[in-house]
Formats: sequence, structure tokens, C-alpha cells
Amino acid sequence: MEKIKLNENVLVSPIVQGLWRLTDWNWTIAETVEFIEQCIALGVTTFDTAEIYGNYACEERVGEVLRAAPHLRDRIEIVAKTGINMMSDKRAYTIGHYDTRKHKVVKSCQDSIRKMNCDYLDVFLIHREDPLIDHRELGKTLDELVDAGWVKAVGVSNFDPMKFDALQSHMKHKLITNQIECSPICFEHFNNGNMDYLQKMNVRPMIWSPLAGGRLFTSNEEKNMKARKKIDEIARRHGVESESIVFAWLLYHPVKAIPISGSGKIRRLQHALAGLTIALTHEEWYEIYTASGQQRLR
Ligand SMILES: NC(=O)c1ccc[n+]([C@@H]2O[C@H](COP(=O)([O-])OP(=O)(O)OC[C@H]3O[C@@H](n4cnc5c(N)ncnc54)[C@H](OP(=O)(O)O)[C@@H]3O)[C@@H](O)[C@H]2O)c1
Repeated sequence: MEKIKLNENVLVSPIVQGLWRLTDWNWTIAETVEFIEQCIALGVTTFDTAEIYGNYACEERVGEVLRAAPHLRDRIEIVAKTGINMMSDKRAYTIGHYDTRKHKVVKSCQDSIRKMNCDYLDVFLIHREDPLIDHRELGKTLDELVDAGWVKAVGVSNFDPMKFDALQSHMKHKLITNQIECSPICFEHFNNGNMDYLQKMNVRPMIWSPLAGGRLFTSNEEKNMKARKKIDEIARRHGVESESIVFAWLLYHPVKAIPISGSGKIRRLQHALAGLTIALTHEEWYEIYTASGQQRLR
């Protein structure tokens, strides 16, 4: 499967495997190695994690996997994130908060590399918008992490266009992605201009919770049920799984998104990959866009 070039140094797979729920899966290290091997065999080589995932335990689990199977490091790309301090951290903060100051970002990057038992990160992201962000300081810090070889590329997550632009304007290196939420029930980034801004900047977003964290197929909330009915109908039309239709819908958009699948089941990753070859019609895209009742045409 052809990889996507994010910059001169980073190629990622067209579907990324998310590791947010890794510690919930309660796998042994051998089972986790097997899962990663199966992902790679399917062409999914990029894995998304974050300092806070699994209540700060996910990266250590990845480290155990790479210690047990060091040959995997050169075959995968690791995306990691920083910038959130949760009260459950061992530093026992008095309030959960964001922190994008230099000392936090540098230490977090180095800790992630140490915990994951790897020499560098492929992509390092600022996890969330921080109201106290100092664009000059953070931009310089991210540039320095790239120049020093700790990371191959940097980006952001959940940034609106204004904040992305402000940070980028103080940087030498390009922010290579904005990891954002999008699904047939989540339209924030259509409405805040991100889909247009990212196209203008030639930046491909990674898409989190493409299936709304599974709620699209399990929730009895009206918006989910309405979207599900339409997705199921279109899936029957194409003779494919409903999950595949959602990935095809995300991939249809000219912003050239890179969806992150969050399932721990290989068959569901295969359904995600099937979305790469489904040709939705323009009308079908709009059928899904409007199905939940959350998004009206203006
Ligand atoms: N940057 C950010 O702020 C941010 C935030 C959230 C997530 N992320 C990243 O994005 C990744 C993907 O997010 P996500 O995990 O929410 O993705 P998702 O693919 O929308 O949801 C995955 C969940 O949905 C369940 N699921 C999938 N298909 C289903 C079906 N047909 N019926 C019932 N349940 C189904 C999966 O269960 P099974 O495992 O049983 O299949 C899993 O629990 C995360 O792993 C993380 O790496 C980033």
C-alpha cells in the first residue's frame, strides 16, 4: 500500500492504528506484538499514542512491546502527543490543565522516547489548544526538537485555523498535521473553517474517533440512529460493511484526511482499509453529511 509523504522525513500509512484503548484490551506483550505484526501485514504501519493514554500507561506498554520485538521499530511510525496534565499524574496536580511551556514539552518528548524504548518519535503533536499558549516559545521549542533529532516532524491536534496559523507563523519547520475529530455525527471542523484552511496550507489532517468511538453503531441517541440508518442503507447498496462506508466518506473529502482506526479488532481494521477502495457518489457523501440532522446545508 502506498504511503503518504508528510514531509521529507516522514511517510505514514493511509489509515493509522490508534492506541488510545490499548491498555483496555488487556493483552499480553506477545498478543500486542502479534496485533502490530498483523497491522503491518495489512499495510498499517503508523501508530498513534499520547503521553496521557491509558492513564499514562500506554507508552510504557509500547516500550515493553518494542523491547520484546525491537525489529518492529524500523517498520513502524510512532505518533505521540503532549501538553495535557491530568490530576491522575503522579505529580498530583490540583487541577487538570494544559501545559505547552518549553520545559514540559521537551521533558515530555524525551520521556515518551524513553518510555517507548525508541530513539526518536516520527511525529510529535501538541494534543490540545492551550489558552496560555505562547506561540513564539512553543514554535521555537518544536523547531529545536526537530533540529536535535528527537522527532522527525511536529504538528498539532484539535487546533482551530487561527491557533494553527499563529503557531506556524513562528516556526521554521512545517506543522505536518492537525489531528482533529470528524465523523458522520461530528462536524466541528467543517464549521470552524479547518477543512478549508488545511487544504489551503496543504496540510493533511489525521481524523480521530471516525466511528464516534463506536457510538455510531451502538448508541440509541437520535443523531447516531439517524446516521446509522443511512450508513447501513448505503453499505447495502455497495455490498460492503457499514464501517467501511464511514471511512470512504472521510476519505472522499478533498482535504485528503488520514483516518485513525481505534478498534482492537483486526477485522475492523480491514473494514477501515476497505474504505480506501469504495467509490461513493457525490450525492451519497451529502446523504451521510446531513443524515444525523446535526448539519444543515447553508
Ligand atoms: N487527538 C485527540 O485528541 C484524540 C482523541 C481521541 C482519540 N484519538 C486517537 O484516535 C484513535 C481513534 O479514536 P477512537 O478509538 O475513538 O476511534 P473509533 O474507531 O471511532 O472508535 C473505536 C471504538 O469503537 C468500537 N467500535 C468500532 N466499530 C464498532 C462497531 N461496528 N460496533 C460497536 N463498536 C465498534 C471499537 O471497539 P472494538 O475495539 O471492540 O472494535 C472501539 O472501542 C484513538 O485510538 C487515538 O489514537 C485522538
